[in-house]
Amino acid sequence: MAKTNTAKQANNNTQSWAPNSWRAKPATQLPTYPDQAKLERIEGIVSGLPPLVFAGEARHLQSQLAEVCAGNAFILQGGDCAESFQEFNANKIRDTFRLLLQMSVIMTYSGGLPIVKMGRMAGQFAKPRSADTETIDDVTLPSYRGDIINKLEFTEQSRVPNPERMIRAYNQSASTLNLLRAFAQGGYADLNKVHSWNLDFVSNSPLSDRYEALAHDIDQALTFMKACGVDSTKVPTMRETDFYTCHEALLLPYEEAMTRTDSITDDPYDTSAHFLWIGARTQQTDGAQIEFVRGINNPIGMKVPPELDGDTLIKLIDTINPDNIPGRLSLIGRMGHGQVEEKLAPLVRRVKEEGRQVAWICDPMHGNVEKSSTGYKTRRFDNILAEVKGFFNVHKAEGTHPGGVHFELTGQNVTECVGGAHDVTEEDLSSRYHTACDPRLNANQALELAFLVADELKAIKK
Ligand code: PEP
Ligand code: CO
Repeated sequence: MAKTNTAKQANNNTQSWAPNSWRAKPATQLPTYPDQAKLERIEGIVSGLPPLVFAGEARHLQSQLAEVCAGNAFILQGGDCAESFQEFNANKIRDTFRLLLQMSVIMTYSGGLPIVKMGRMAGQFAKPRSADTETIDDVTLPSYRGDIINKLEFTEQSRVPNPERMIRAYNQSASTLNLLRAFAQGGYADLNKVHSWNLDFVSNSPLSDRYEALAHDIDQALTFMKACGVDSTKVPTMRETDFYTCHEALLLPYEEAMTRTDSITDDPYDTSAHFLWIGARTQQTDGAQIEFVRGINNPIGMKVPPELDGDTLIKLIDTINPDNIPGRLSLIGRMGHGQVEEKLAPLVRRVKEEGRQVAWICDPMHGNVEKSSTGYKTRRFDNILAEVKGFFNVHKAEGTHPGGVHFELTGQNVTECVGGAHDVTEEDLSSRYHTACDPRLNANQALELAFLVADELKAIKK
């Protein structure tokens, strides 16, 4: 039975929880800061900064995610693999935001479900790495772990983890969120403006024609409503949208410092984002990241890689969501196109059989990374598409709700993933390859996927 009050999720586990109880657990993927006194000073500063999000917003998101669990809504999660200090400007934020709006309107219109929108934005800075160090020409330095920790540049000074970068990441998150809130609430997301969301470089493509046709239909529907006496410019749900932020709960000193007690419920919330997820490399059942998220009351995500077995998955679910509250936990499968049906199906079946309430999301990015013949880390559009299709097939076969999609994308005209209607080739990759980490879909590729998802959602409705 779902409890309406999500209070004290942690206390239902046998061990007590505190924002710093993760410190007694084995931690992976955390940087080694050389100056402990400086780290503690910065943690003190961050813990005194205003929250970036309000607990009430996180609760609102959780109730929308509960609708996803019930099969009545769909999640769109997307943004950079890693935000960077250098690539930070208003146009970039706007272009990613409006691409997510476009994708969401495509999915809502054809799929007929409300879309819960979450940006990998305003806080997605810390990255897990497969090795602690990187060696180039006999020089070995600490790995780059994201701009909140150190600098990408391969010099000794740049790679030393510097806690002061947390303050810059906080400030960048605050101004990003400020602009996102303005766009979401200030009229930019108005359904009367669907035509104007089309990005310049997308126009003149077959996708753009498809999008324009859809925008035209929406206009007609709005005109019809107006003729019937409903003025959509005065209806808040048509003029505004809910837009949430999310990032990986990785850098625990920062996440702990951003944790506050909500004055209404007395519960702890990590106020660095609305939604936090556990990555594929930090999901040890007794590990520090799992310990941290089990006690915060934000809705939580967890990546599900192909190696994760059913017993461990159930154990993790019960640690994070002991009261089985719908909306509290979303599972983000990232299996790889070749094995999505084989690996995802048994887990979806097991979770269903055991009656655990989760929203299933498909991340078709992280199981499909490869190196191009020209030496770039890339992803093939066809493989991404195949994983999304496989995800829908699994849920069709298991009688479960496909709850959402999770993409690394940008509204910039980059050439980082190969393929798609505009056919980015391996030779093209070098022309506009800007990512600070993993390769992202550009707007054309993302819109193509949105139409595919919309078609799949439409098929379910029938
Ligand atoms: C990511 O989402 O950028 C990421 C590192 O994913 P994963 O933990 O699934 O590898
Ligand atoms: Co990534």
